[in-house]
Amino acid sequence: MTEPKTAVRIVCAGGAVQDNVMRVEKFPEPGGKVSATDFIITSGGQAGNAAVAMARLGAQVTYIGAVGDESDHVANGILKTFANEKIDISNVIRVPGARSAASLILLDAEGEKMIATLRPTGLSQATPDNPDGLVAEADAVMLDNRYSNISLPICLAAKKRGIPRVLDFDKPTPPDDPLFQACSHVICSADAIRESTGIDDLHGALKKLGESYSGFLAATSGPDGVDWLDNGAVRHMDAFRVKAVDTLGAGDTFHGAFAVRFVECRDVVDAMRFAAAAAAIKCTRFGGLMGAATRDEVEAFLKERP
Ligand SMILES: Nc1ncnc2c1ncn2[C@@H]1O[C@H](COP(=O)(O)OP(=O)(O)OP(=O)(O)O)[C@@H](O)[C@H]1O
Ligand SMILES: [Mg+2]
Repeated sequence: MTEPKTAVRIVCAGGAVQDNVMRVEKFPEPGGKVSATDFIITSGGQAGNAAVAMARLGAQVTYIGAVGDESDHVANGILKTFANEKIDISNVIRVPGARSAASLILLDAEGEKMIATLRPTGLSQATPDNPDGLVAEADAVMLDNRYSNISLPICLAAKKRGIPRVLDFDKPTPPDDPLFQACSHVICSADAIRESTGIDDLHGALKKLGESYSGFLAATSGPDGVDWLDNGAVRHMDAFRVKAVDTLGAGDTFHGAFAVRFVECRDVVDAMRFAAAAAAIKCTRFGGLMGAATRDEVEAFLKERP
């Protein structure tokens, strides 16, 4: 593996959520009660998770997103987690009167999850002041497609500089979506690509979406791995087999790790293998992205699996 000479610099734009995660043996029946064995309050959300994953992998990460103002304790908690992970939060937009999103998550012994999310208010119109300045020193940008008010200006600024623009395509989106079209590497969740194309077969869905997009296009399917388009043909890579206890943010980890490794090696297959390793390690640990892997852990994991 080519060692990075200096830390990769990535601007990560999109949404962040506060995750309140409890581990239980079995989910309660409606009206019932169960004991929990673990509890953590941490940051979550697509871009929020990717930011933590990339920071753990040694990247210098700047998070750009909109959150509630100083009176919003949920937003304060999200930013505290980022600061602990050494993520640059100096450009975060704090929207007066807005409220950040929070999720209540139960995980059972099988790693299955139940999630209730309190949607944010007041965040969908916020835009970054100086997107060109924000990406001026970046090696790549990592974007989610739920907050295009934030992601699109960052993406367009990155496109002007010709740096990689990795998109977490997790929300169903039409093929003419400007954010989708402006990205260089798009990795979809299986559900989002199926819903966007109306095609259930993943290979068919990739080929269909690929008709209107010329960059790198892939779709992940949890423990079944990742499929991608290679000159019109679909190729597949298995996921690493692990005992999953918490798959929260596995997809976000995959995206973040892909972005970091792609900047280093410029090889999509190498980057996806690295990403799959980071995501698999994350799945073996409780606590959302607080269980994210370090660079050394990913490298040791890959060494054992040549
Ligand atoms: N149970 C698992 N075991 C091993 N690897 C996994 C597992 N779940 C996910 N992964 C890895 O993470 C990648 C992305 O996962 P997935 O397809 O579930 O993302 P997603 O649908 O975007 O979900 P989310 O964003 O909610 O985590 C997979 O391609 C795989 O490499
Ligand atoms: Mg996802």
